[in-house]
Amino acid sequence: MIFLTKGEAIMTNSQAVAAHYSIKGILDTIESGLKQVGADRDSVTIDQLSLVDEFHIGGRKATEHFFPQLGFRPGDRVLDIGCGIGGGSRFAAAKYEVNVDGIDLTDEYIEVGDELNRWVGMETSVSLKTGDATSLEFEDKTFDAAFTMHVCMNIADKRRVFEEAYRVIKPRGVLGIYDVTKYGAGEIMYPLPWAASAETSHLSSAGQYVKDLESAGFQVETVTDRHAFAVEFFEAVKAKMASAGGPPPLGIHVLMGSDAKTKVTNLTSNLINGLVAPFEFVARKL
Ligand SMILES: C[S@@+](CC[C@H](N)C(=O)[O-])C[C@H]1O[C@@H](n2cnc3c(N)ncnc32)[C@H](O)[C@@H]1O
Repeated sequence: MIFLTKGEAIMTNSQAVAAHYSIKGILDTIESGLKQVGADRDSVTIDQLSLVDEFHIGGRKATEHFFPQLGFRPGDRVLDIGCGIGGGSRFAAAKYEVNVDGIDLTDEYIEVGDELNRWVGMETSVSLKTGDATSLEFEDKTFDAAFTMHVCMNIADKRRVFEEAYRVIKPRGVLGIYDVTKYGAGEIMYPLPWAASAETSHLSSAGQYVKDLESAGFQVETVTDRHAFAVEFFEAVKAKMASAGGPPPLGIHVLMGSDAKTKVTNLTSNLINGLVAPFEFVARKL
């Protein structure tokens, strides 16, 4: 698909998505945020980084709910599809003693993620590289499991993503998905954290995810509605910001650019109005 940007440059969906996420100076902002919480690049832990490196609704709390469903075993090789700056990859590797390959469309995120891996000494257990979820550069049956968080909202052909995941996962391996889905009828407000406009936002219903997963060959084991969790999460964020008088030094707003506040406000409204909702899916390759 072809898009016309404001500057009249012609971009594909992938280029427009990568351009949306490309923010300059992320590492500097993280470093100065770390100083404010009494840490630096030599002492920082993955728990401190989780304030900024888990770019999905609910951050680390959401990941802690999602990962235990995926059955990781020590020594597994796991794929993080659309890893962003690698927060989920590092957490999986540290908590479950797995080796993680993360791929992401956005070059800047991979550069930042690589540097963060060095800061916390995880260069051997986590390997990040630029790549496209719709065309994975891995051999068939490479991974024991794969997961993806808040990525497919940018991809129209989700079935293609799931087919690629199916190909690279070993038989009996699991694919876990934590994504924002289309929930109820009504006009969605933009910009949102994953897209400036509807042009690069490709939301599907949870039912459509199940159909696409099954068409790709997976057996869907569980589908979990996380709408109430998301609403509660943003209410807590709002209350915290009101009492602190603004956003914290480290938060996922760092990855959202200058209109972060509008993006979060719109997402919160869309959630409260029941238009969108995050869901978890656990699917197994037969
Ligand atoms: C909201 S961020 C989530 C990042 C990460 N999964 C996390 O939870 O912290 C969405 C990410 O999806 C990536 N992405 C979008 N479309 C992609 C594609 N076709 N292939 C690989 N990555 C993609 C973006 O570059 C961005 O880093």
